[in-house]
Amino acid sequence: MPALSPREHVDFLVLGGGVAGLSFALEAAAHGSVLVLTKRQRFEGSTQYAQGGIASVLGADDRFELHVEDTLVAGAGLCKREAVEVTVREGPERIRWLLGLGVELDREGPEALHLTREGGHSRRRIVHAKDTTGREVERVLLAACEARGIRLVEDAVAVDLITSGKLGMGGPNRALGAYVLERATGDISAVSAAITVLATGGAGKVYLYTTNPDVGTGDGVAMAWRAGATIANMEFFQFHPTCLFHPQAKSFLISEALRGEGGILRNAAGEPFMIRYDPRKELAPRDIVARSIDAEIKRRGDDCAYLDMTHLPKGFLLEHFPHIHATCREFGIDMAVQPIPVVPAAHYMCGGVVTDLVGRTSIPRLYAAGEVACTGLHGANRLASNSLLEGLVFGRRAALRAVDELGETSGPTPTIPDWNPGAALAPDEGVVVAHNWDEVRRLMWNYVGIVRSQKRLERARSRLAVLRGEIRDYYWQYRVTPDLVELRNLADVATLIVESARHRKESRGLHYVLDFPQADDRQLRDTVVALGDLEPR
Ligand code: FAD
Ligand code: SIN
Repeated sequence: MPALSPREHVDFLVLGGGVAGLSFALEAAAHGSVLVLTKRQRFEGSTQYAQGGIASVLGADDRFELHVEDTLVAGAGLCKREAVEVTVREGPERIRWLLGLGVELDREGPEALHLTREGGHSRRRIVHAKDTTGREVERVLLAACEARGIRLVEDAVAVDLITSGKLGMGGPNRALGAYVLERATGDISAVSAAITVLATGGAGKVYLYTTNPDVGTGDGVAMAWRAGATIANMEFFQFHPTCLFHPQAKSFLISEALRGEGGILRNAAGEPFMIRYDPRKELAPRDIVARSIDAEIKRRGDDCAYLDMTHLPKGFLLEHFPHIHATCREFGIDMAVQPIPVVPAAHYMCGGVVTDLVGRTSIPRLYAAGEVACTGLHGANRLASNSLLEGLVFGRRAALRAVDELGETSGPTPTIPDWNPGAALAPDEGVVVAHNWDEVRRLMWNYVGIVRSQKRLERARSRLAVLRGEIRDYYWQYRVTPDLVELRNLADVATLIVESARHRKESRGLHYVLDFPQADDRQLRDTVVALGDLEPR
């Protein structure tokens, strides 16, 4: 039984049920009808897996200026100061909002919240719920949506945005909703909306090894790009330094908060090595720690590095990191008595769909918030724990503006044609999808990873061109399935990353290229790509 009718109309169509989408929905719900769609179960997204916490200025020794400065330093010259300022200044109010909804954060006595520390932060400013902050935030936001009767449909995959331009309607191009595939039935509905919101999260699955859950296939960026929206800074993909290295662990994250609380990185010979790479050692910004681990592993020919927590009392570890402790135990590792084997893995997409300070993209009536968006907060490298904060701040900001825009909108709802399956056949070669999926992710890992070279980028580019051609043919010949939708999006996002990386002929933040190892301030600008202009401008 389909959960969506073949045709639906809502005021606000929210694609994504993580921190950004749900923050938007909760703000907008009093002003119009809201439909939230999630690709799999409602809780499944990066938000659910966030460990370390949410950065915000709450400590007695902290100031907005310091958080702003730390964010700008991590961003290596490419943050937009206004985006940083609003995010930082609105942070404490957003934390109070979460507390008001019932989020339980760790406390330091009855009045104060416990603040932990992560790399690049000059003060303790990370609020958290043990080491499962995201699970707690997602739980409470979902419960709040339910309490307010917000409609949420699971297993509903947005396939493509609907725009007036694509439909050949007159007037300036604008967003009209999305075509949505229901996993259970294979049916595709046309959902029209006054306002469409991309809150689809990141794209870690474009790489072979990632901390991201399976839904992180970059659908929002790919759909927005195909619809003609402006995309920026896709070369800046963040690799988290410490992912559990174990054949059975599917990219389990070992939070940066462990280093914040004193964890020491050692090589296989037991030597602490970070001091040789950066004076800030384990608390250097993430790009530096990830590259240092990568270099140390390659230098010695080891499989992994080790994060040593054994000098800290067991009681402290159990109190602060119960989830990480228990998960490591499942894999036979007791972090209280032995160092944890770790490797870097793809973690966070700093670029994305360009928005202004109220979440508007370059396509009227299309908004974006959360990891899918490029607000200018992160620049060339995201500061740890700034992304849940960004989702909270910009989800709300986007909703406030979208509510106003809804009030300004008049006229009849345009008629949207049904999805046209053409002569599409039932898919008969699942192996093609699986093979191409694997090839995209492997080539991105091998050629477009932590350390890049022009030669490897060229190689990735030509392989991707062939793969995208095959995928395009397959897409138009066969009936659309969720796997095919994701594969097409992965290949588009991979191409955007490669083209952006080729274009930046310097090393800055997360983009490190052997041929140009230094930053070159003549290139201190965003890498902007739009449709029809795969060569970045
Ligand atoms: P998500 O929470 O990823 O949600 C995306 C939603 O979009 C999902 O509901 C998904 O189903 C839906 N979706 C995607 N595609 C489609 C489609 N085609 N159709 C319909 N729905 C779709 N950040 C911090 O600030 N602090 C941390 O401690 C932290 N820890 C992290 C730990 C891990 C393991 C990971 C992976 C990330 C972590 N991050 C952390 C980053 C942070 O969690 C994410 O950036 C943030 O949660 C993204 O929120 P979001 O709302 O943008 O997207
Ligand atoms: C972590 O807990 O290390 C993740 C924090 C983040 O990605 O911001």
